Amino acid sequence: MINWAQLPFAYKKTHTNIRCVYSNNAWETITSHTDENVNLHMAASCLHYGQECFEGLKAYRGKDNKIRIFRWEENLRRLNKSANRLSMPSIPPEIFEQALRRLIEENKDFVPPYGTGASLYIRPLLIGTSPRLGLSPADDYMFVMFCSPVGPYFKTGLKPVKIIIERDTDRAAPLGTGNVKVGGNYAPALITTEKIHALGYSAALYLDPKEKKYIDECGPANFFGIKNNTYITPDSQSILQSITNMSLKTVASEILGLSVEERKVPLEELSEFEEIGQCGTAAVLTPVYEIYDPITKNHYTYGNPEETGTVCRQLFETLIGIQYGDIPDRFGWNTII
Ligand code: PLP
Ligand code: COI
Repeated sequence: MINWAQLPFAYKKTHTNIRCVYSNNAWETITSHTDENVNLHMAASCLHYGQECFEGLKAYRGKDNKIRIFRWEENLRRLNKSANRLSMPSIPPEIFEQALRRLIEENKDFVPPYGTGASLYIRPLLIGTSPRLGLSPADDYMFVMFCSPVGPYFKTGLKPVKIIIERDTDRAAPLGTGNVKVGGNYAPALITTEKIHALGYSAALYLDPKEKKYIDECGPANFFGIKNNTYITPDSQSILQSITNMSLKTVASEILGLSVEERKVPLEELSEFEEIGQCGTAAVLTPVYEIYDPITKNHYTYGNPEETGTVCRQLFETLIGIQYGDIPDRFGWNTII
């Protein structure tokens, strides 16, 4: 028996995962597997040279018991951008869609019940599987899609968290791979995450890696600030273009009547914001009540740890309202299964 309302953001075994192999310059047909293991050649290019990219999207069960997948076409677009950046082949939309529909069909009893706050997290990944010792792209690839029922990434849910500016490491290089979702961006950040967790912070806030003057993003989520009825989020070459952020910008301007600005956000502007949030598929919308700068020793504060700001709450409720089917999907974001 799963305790849906208490689910952590963690892997949980489901019935099946879906796979599709690319070989001889073509995608084969998709197959369904109960085995959670992938058999790899020890010299596979994904193991040594990091030919690996992934995605994260969610399916939600509504009051009407229908299952809604949120904006999967955007995840496919970004997956192919990541794949091409690593010299890997694109995944055709029909393969991705077939895999997604079959995965959900075969695991629908793992889509959490409406009202529990949980959802089904879907993790597509693409790896190079050919043996390589010299540096060249693989000829063969494997696309895998698995799922896991999850609760919120930050255990606090909509309760505000504190974060800390990270100056000892960068998440991405200025013209590196920060704008794509590749495994190689995440392993080097684990040491930082452990460091800041030990200090009591829930996320690191990275600065632009070139000048260290502007806000980039948090470890697993984009950054936004609210001031004067305006939703402000960084424009940077080294951040991941978050689909949640893209959606919140639309909710902010089209539903809540806020202005939206996507531009460089100088560090000094932190003292001007009324509310701050982190956003992402796993993070959903996590409000921030404090940002600490360990160099200047500044503590920037936004409201208090017990209370979520009005705009963050409205953004959160509208977004999840659309995702769970409680608010009309006027932008056509949901695919109903
Ligand atoms: N930034 C990083 C580095 C991420 O890993 C993620 C998660 O996918 C996000 C932002 C949020 O992106 P999205 O809203 O598309 O999940
Ligand atoms: C997501 O939000 O989907 C992610 O991939 C973030 C991950 C680091 C948990």
